[in-house]
Amino acid sequence: MISTILRAGYLRVIQSTRVLRSINMQFLLIAALTLLLPSRGNTQDDDECSWIINKSGWGGRPSKEVKYMNIPVRYVIIQHTATPRCNSASQCADRVANIQTYHMDTLNWHDIGISFLVGGDGNVYEGSGWHQVGAHTRGYNTKSIGVAFIGNFDDVLPPKAQLDAARHLLDCGVKTGRLSDDFKLIAQRQVSSTISPGLSLFREIQKWPEWVEIP
Ligand SMILES: *[C@@H]1O[C@H](CO)[C@@H](O)[C@H](O)[C@H]1NC(C)=O
Repeated sequence: MISTILRAGYLRVIQSTRVLRSINMQFLLIAALTLLLPSRGNTQDDDECSWIINKSGWGGRPSKEVKYMNIPVRYVIIQHTATPRCNSASQCADRVANIQTYHMDTLNWHDIGISFLVGGDGNVYEGSGWHQVGAHTRGYNTKSIGVAFIGNFDDVLPPKAQLDAARHLLDCGVKTGRLSDDFKLIAQRQVSSTISPGLSLFREIQKWPEWVEIP
């Protein structure tokens, strides 16, 4: 009698161990997949920073002449476009295209002068890009990436999505070796007679870890 009860109990323990073990296996499998899949996606993304909307993505024109930058770049210069802001991808693409037209057709430059433009829609738009010497800040073009927030940020801060997009760009630049991992970040107004990127945004970027007072 007692031995029958014990045996039944023993069998139940074995059975529940099996169930537990298979549940554990499922958990492990799911955990492994969850770990593997998104991280692969992100790495691929970040390896190329391919989430950036490139020139063909916003309908830009190719450069008339490319001067190459020395990589990794040591400075990032934050500026604003002093244009109206934009809140959708089509509106932001329009702003970027207008700036390129102005730089190429009115000022007769080789390309849009700004390296990257950050929209209120949370997208980053490729201008002259990582590898091309831009035309944004006299004395710094050959050693800096110019990042312009689309809008005017003297009195207001950019929305969070716009600030986050700029941070994402900088982090991606370092991760992919385009930006030096101890790059210095400054506001355009620190090295040029302009209010750009506006007082509010200037105060904000002074909290970013790469900001320096004296470039
Ligand atoms: C531009 O971006 C699109 C969409 O992500 C991509 O298919 C295309 O290859 C890119 N072009 C260049 C020149 O990188």
